[in-house]
Amino acid sequence: MITRLQIRKPDDMHVHLREGDMMREVVPHTAGVFGRALVMPNLKNAVIHGTSAARYRDEILRACSELRLPFDPLMTVKLTAQTTTDVIKGAYSCGVAAVKLYPEGVTTNSTGGIRDPDQINPDVFRAMAHNGMVLCVHAEEPGLFSLDRESGYLRHVEKIATAHPNLRIVIEHITSRDGVEFVHRAGPNVAATITVHHLLITLDDVIGDKLNPHNFCKPIAKREADRAALVTAALSGNPKFFLGTDSAPHAQDTKECASGCAGCFTAPAAIELLTEIFDAHGALPGLESFTSIFGAQFYGLGLNMGTITIVKEPWEIPATCGAVVPFMAGKRIGWRVAK
Ligand code: NCD
Ligand code: ZN
Repeated sequence: MITRLQIRKPDDMHVHLREGDMMREVVPHTAGVFGRALVMPNLKNAVIHGTSAARYRDEILRACSELRLPFDPLMTVKLTAQTTTDVIKGAYSCGVAAVKLYPEGVTTNSTGGIRDPDQINPDVFRAMAHNGMVLCVHAEEPGLFSLDRESGYLRHVEKIATAHPNLRIVIEHITSRDGVEFVHRAGPNVAATITVHHLLITLDDVIGDKLNPHNFCKPIAKREADRAALVTAALSGNPKFFLGTDSAPHAQDTKECASGCAGCFTAPAAIELLTEIFDAHGALPGLESFTSIFGAQFYGLGLNMGTITIVKEPWEIPATCGAVVPFMAGKRIGWRVAK
């Protein structure tokens, strides 16, 4: 029986760190475990230019240096109807790694997103591909029935991927069997992140019994067949699938209310829950590729140098982390990252 596991420091290829007090509250949960994370741009004032991404990166780095946590935040900017090739070049020169496509209105702070993906200037995609920047897509078709939104958006991704074979595209937080099949079928320029929560829950964990707002996120968790397809993909050893937690903290009162915010705060136990999943499938030897290798390779980054140690030791996910209720609060887990 394996009771201790050392893996290369992982990368979280999709995280929400927020700003100000909330950022300082949540960032240690990510920076204490992950070597790098791709930080999403959906702040209240969205990050749409390289200069604001660089400022945001500095804010995160300052917080991490006060905590003495070595951490390399990889930055993103949000694609808008006003994004030009110059904006892309400027972002590239500020070290921005990826550009995020949010369809209008589908999730937290996504107003000012893209209404019609056909209207995006192809030169913007060409400039991204030219500079080696990645397109991250929140693949949900606004207005469709919620369980069909991801499947309904894949045709847009297919169009972009086919027209721009040199542009690397990540379908973020895939949630459906259709999404998994699409990524398998698509060219080598298309990959996907998978979250921890979508490997664990279905729609029933949100609304099947009493309403659980802490399991509510976008895209919404779907059917058991979808969850099973995600688990198979994550365990498959196919480098097109890698970890992006989509850890998305919201203060407790903005989740436990009418019109509650979407997002699961998974960072406090992401690696531990994932280790449990891989362990339950006898797949621990494949964990490191999913967490620490495939994402970096797709992004063309070197691998992290350090390691983390995960030990078989029970603990309980806390009821709260500051103002935020973490995903699966109170759950006993069998694995723990050694500090
Ligand atoms: C994210 C957030 O809160 O910023 N919410 C979520 O449900 N996943 C935004 C996102 O990634 O869609
Ligand atoms: Zn997200």
